[in-house]
Amino acid sequence: MKGVLLSGGSGTRLRPITHTGPKQLVPVANKPVLQYALEDLREAGITEIGVVLGNKGREEIQEFLGDGSEFGVEITYIVQGNPLGLAHAAGCAKDFVGDDDFVMYLGDNILQQGIGELVESYRAGDYDAGIALQAVDDPRQFGVADVDDTGTVTRLVEKPDDPPSNLALIGVYVFSPLVFDAIERIDPSWRGELEITDAIQLLLDDGRRVDSHVVEGWWKDTGKPEDILEANRLALENLDGAVEGTIEEGAEVTGSVDLAPGAVIEDGAVVRGPVAVGSDTVIGEGTYLGPCSSVGPNTTIENAHIESSVVIGESEITTSGKIVDSLIGRNATVGTAEGLLPEGRRLVVGENSHLRL
Ligand code: G1P
Repeated sequence: MKGVLLSGGSGTRLRPITHTGPKQLVPVANKPVLQYALEDLREAGITEIGVVLGNKGREEIQEFLGDGSEFGVEITYIVQGNPLGLAHAAGCAKDFVGDDDFVMYLGDNILQQGIGELVESYRAGDYDAGIALQAVDDPRQFGVADVDDTGTVTRLVEKPDDPPSNLALIGVYVFSPLVFDAIERIDPSWRGELEITDAIQLLLDDGRRVDSHVVEGWWKDTGKPEDILEANRLALENLDGAVEGTIEEGAEVTGSVDLAPGAVIEDGAVVRGPVAVGSDTVIGEGTYLGPCSSVGPNTTIENAHIESSVVIGESEITTSGKIVDSLIGRNATVGTAEGLLPEGRRLVVGENSHLRL
């Protein structure tokens, strides 16, 4: 079985963070979202992986993953170019997949419990597709499955106005190569995309068997800033923190703390886990770093109060204002305007930013 990891898309809902890089490299608990999917594939025994690249962030993704050897996998890059939909992206992997079955994993999705059960369940039967499902509050934002009492999928519909169930298709699928024939036969949806949901519906119409597996444990599609924060919270709660950096005497540290090499929590700082602190980052005196925060590498934080936030890295934060539920991009400076006249917030804000002051 092979893996196809989709890493295209334009990341519009994550602007301005995605003005400078692909959404799949946004870190959750200081690890790029894409790496979680790669590790799930590897843990399911899948090491031959095709990474489908869009037009955006191609170089960054290739630079991060390399040939895959650092992650214990073998990577082949496939260029999709323009994002014409998930089914189009899958179709681009046809030559790479050949006669094998494959797992298609959306590179901006995170699953708490990996994909082992989904893959096993597909392998145990005579299926041409396997889908992973989870009950959600608002199914209209997703692909939705209608499943009968025996667990058999009867119908799939993409982003329905009137959902047949609350079971959303989550971002991981198993396919036999028959799916490529279905992909060639579908038309673009109302949103102008070739939907993988429609291709699976076509397999059902053809009388093919589609396995469905309701996924236990949390799942997050990290398309929006609030999803990144939520995924960060969930991932930090999962993390067994390793202290490889330094906690100075006089620092007050409680809960699970993941401290990368070279990171320092200084005397006079208060840190309440779960938190992750990246390499060579300094959590300085007078700082409160509260639960569910991740601070990336090479960052200095002094006299600041940060809670439930993601600071991507290479930044300096010295404001006395409280920072909560925030996503702060790379190379940002957040200071204090105290003493300066006229009084007020001083902002240099990028295109498509969201501020609540
Ligand atoms: C895509 C799929 C949808 C699925 C979702 C999971 O939606 O089209 O069926 O439920 O991923 O994250 P999109 O992210 O393109 O809106």
